[in-house]
Amino acid sequence: MDQFDVVVIGGGPGGYVAAIRAAQLGFRTACIDEWKNAKGGPAPGGTCTNVGCIPSKALLQSSEHYDHALHHFGDHGITVKGASMDVAKMIARKDAVVKQNNDGILYLFKKNKVTFFHGRGAFAGAAKDGVHEIAISGPTTATVAAKHVIIATGSNARALPGVAFDEKLVLSNEGALAIGETPKTLGVIGAGVIGLEMGSVWRRLGAEVTVLEGLPNFLGAVDEQVAKEAAKLFKKQGLAIHLGVKVGAVKTGKNAVTVAFTTADGKAESATFDKLIVSIGRVPNTTGLNAEAAGVKLDPRGFIVVDDDCRTSAANVWAVGDVVRGPMLAHKAEEEGVAVAERMAGQHPHVDFNCIPWVIYTSPEIAWVGQTEQQLKAAGVAYKAGSFPFLANGRARALGNTEGFVKILADAKTDRVLGMHVIGPMASELIAEGVMAMEFGASSEDIARICHAHPTLSEATKEAALAVDKRTLNF
Ligand code: FAD
Ligand code: NAI
Repeated sequence: MDQFDVVVIGGGPGGYVAAIRAAQLGFRTACIDEWKNAKGGPAPGGTCTNVGCIPSKALLQSSEHYDHALHHFGDHGITVKGASMDVAKMIARKDAVVKQNNDGILYLFKKNKVTFFHGRGAFAGAAKDGVHEIAISGPTTATVAAKHVIIATGSNARALPGVAFDEKLVLSNEGALAIGETPKTLGVIGAGVIGLEMGSVWRRLGAEVTVLEGLPNFLGAVDEQVAKEAAKLFKKQGLAIHLGVKVGAVKTGKNAVTVAFTTADGKAESATFDKLIVSIGRVPNTTGLNAEAAGVKLDPRGFIVVDDDCRTSAANVWAVGDVVRGPMLAHKAEEEGVAVAERMAGQHPHVDFNCIPWVIYTSPEIAWVGQTEQQLKAAGVAYKAGSFPFLANGRARALGNTEGFVKILADAKTDRVLGMHVIGPMASELIAEGVMAMEFGASSEDIARICHAHPTLSEATKEAALAVDKRTLNF
């Protein structure tokens, strides 16, 4: 039996990064991952690489280029005649991008001397003399032993009760990323991150998209001012979003799917779609892991119970990423993975959950870090707010992309930055400055005094910081 210091189960962003960091710290490390590519070969990278972050961003990019060619190139004096979309080619490009990332991870494992096992890992039982045994099945059959185990098995899409994903008509994120031709009509259940990103892709390609959301508020976790702006802009783009809807029976026919629902004002309605994406959240992957036999406690929803440091209830068993509490984000999983490896080495890393950025890659993008105005109000924190519209930013005008704004929230007394919220071009990149400011405990004045290159979108961040003190220069 192969002996390791650390075995990581799951090769998504939580697991593969934890394995690399553990190996860098001198641990003899193995990573087990079961994901298969179309040919049955290994495809490490988890949900993020295979059916999440990376492929969705590839499709968002392709569809945005198409949207620009149809609707925005004319503003720049570019005439495009007969623009058309080859969906099969777009999907093939997306698959190639995914493969580059799979291959990149296999290369990184080699470079860092992480032993990779392609298969499914499960605890053989309780640890004996402090050593855990993990049985591997699937393409590889083996049993490995290690003092430390990191569970990073991730999550999968939650189905509507009684409505299984067939990935032809009723699609999870997997099917939503592999639609072969643009549907005429697309239904989306859940106006969360996946619903809005995938809805945007297929709307840009010409689908008539209807989103049915259960909650009465749009993007409830997002700053209210940003959510209001987003709702206005998505409506203008033609995304039909119905809030406060109660979804009833979902019936699949040969080529279409019919959804019965009750509207917010109590009307019984139904709609028929060529495809239906169900994006109502995700559930942790713990089935078949036999974790309980090793003394690892699960909560009633199947998440692995961990403390603030990602320790489970079993000695030297850790868990990170989507399979534990907290936001289901790739970068959160990575930070936890690195921190666990460093803790095993006796170091004292810290992951500040208040400084984890969120990004929704719609157009315009939405990004935020820290507290929203509604959270600060509810907590009774006295704060100052400053915002700056992209309409008044030179670079945004040159780009032809002036929708949205940057908003900074700072403590009324100390001026410490408590949150940053962006809706607009490249919000995903701009938010890094807010994360940095918050990690360093910066004040809004600190951001305002930093020299930002001109003309850049980041000047909107500086101006929002100036606006906290009511002294914008360009608005
Ligand atoms: P996963 O990535 O789910 O990886 C777990 C891995 O473990 C998988 O490969 C799985 O096959 C394997 N596994 C499970 N059980 C076993 C077992 N018993 N033995 C062996 N292997 C096993 N997050 C972002 O931050 N930014 C984004 O833009 C973003 N976009 C997304 C878009 C979509 C459509 C989806 C669905 C998700 C997106 N996410 C995004 C979320 C992100 O993908 C997850 O938060 C992230 O992948 C979690 O990483 P993880 O390592 O915890 O788990
Ligand atoms: P989500 O939690 O973002 O949104 C789910 C939505 O569905 C919510 O608005 C919820 O109110 C609604 N809903 C739940 N049950 C419903 C029902 N029965 N009928 C109608 N509406 C219902 O979940 P989503 O979009 O599935 O994504 C899962 C997770 O994946 C995200 O929370 C996020 O952590 C991650 N992700 C991150 C991305 C990013 O960082 N850009 C992109 C995509 C996913």
